Amino acid sequence: MNIENYLKDWKKKVDDKLNEHLPSEEEYPPLLHKAMRYSVLAGGKRIRAILMITTYSLSGGKHFDEIMPVSSAIEFIHSYSLIHDDLPAMDNDDYRRGILSSHKKFGEDIAILAGDALFSHAFYMISHSNIRADLKEETLRVLTRAIGNKGIIGGQIEDVISDSGEKNPKLLRYIHSHKTASFFSAVCEIGTILADANKEKISASRKGGLLIGMAFQIQDDILDVEGKKEEMGKEVKKDKNKLTYPSVYGIDFSRKIAKKYSMLALKQLNVISGNDKIFEDLLDFLLGRRN
Ligand code: IPE
Ligand code: IPE
Ligand code: MG
Ligand code: MG
Ligand code: MG
Repeated sequence: MNIENYLKDWKKKVDDKLNEHLPSEEEYPPLLHKAMRYSVLAGGKRIRAILMITTYSLSGGKHFDEIMPVSSAIEFIHSYSLIHDDLPAMDNDDYRRGILSSHKKFGEDIAILAGDALFSHAFYMISHSNIRADLKEETLRVLTRAIGNKGIIGGQIEDVISDSGEKNPKLLRYIHSHKTASFFSAVCEIGTILADANKEKISASRKGGLLIGMAFQIQDDILDVEGKKEEMGKEVKKDKNKLTYPSVYGIDFSRKIAKKYSMLALKQLNVISGNDKIFEDLLDFLLGRRN
């Protein structure tokens, strides 16, 4: 199967489960549920959920029904991070996934609460899933490490106080590896954990996921400079005052660095993919993407 179809098929399955796992707007309190559903169901590539499913499947996992609550949890956390990232106090973005961002649609108060509720709902989904207890515990250990002060939030704080004039490569690597790549690393690792894979595979997916995440965020920086709002579904040219790969290295060299990260990722991920070209195709897709 080619990569576009692979992603399309899994996106549909992930979307269906997200719809099922979100509280209905009929349930009380309706405005909260409406705002949660609005942002999650607006779309998105679902790349983090699909990476988890891919490392699970390549590691021999077969019980997809059992792990779909985790794929939903991953996308709930991702959507929460975007709602908060778009707030006026953060990146101040009016559009996300082709529609008004949550605070533009509902107001800041509701957007903050929708983000909070999605974050909590992620852990509700995992704790209520039928995953074997030891695998569930390990999943939670890896996930919580990746999204808090040593992960997404650690990266986000350095990102919001960063300054494009600084040109500090070490800080730039810290920001990207924490705000974005730590979560990519966790979702890839979680797939292998849920498949009860051996230590070697778990370690390779953790390292490979981190490297995919770096390549992914560098491409996101490049698209902020080169992309079109209509294609991206979000505003572009917003990172002018931020520390980004293009601001430190320029566009052409940033592209080379992203390619380098993707090659290093493939080296790691070969341990779980063997002869399957899936990660090669996936990385080509991610680095060639226009949204
Ligand atoms: C956007 O992530 C935030 C970044 C880390 C760059 P995605 O580009 O995966 O956003 P969606 O889920 O497809 O909307
Ligand atoms: C977002 O990075 C990272 C997280 C949401 C954690 P960006 O701020 O670059 O993402 P976009 O460009 O708004 O999607
Ligand atoms: Mg941001
Ligand atoms: Mg942003
Ligand atoms: Mg960006």
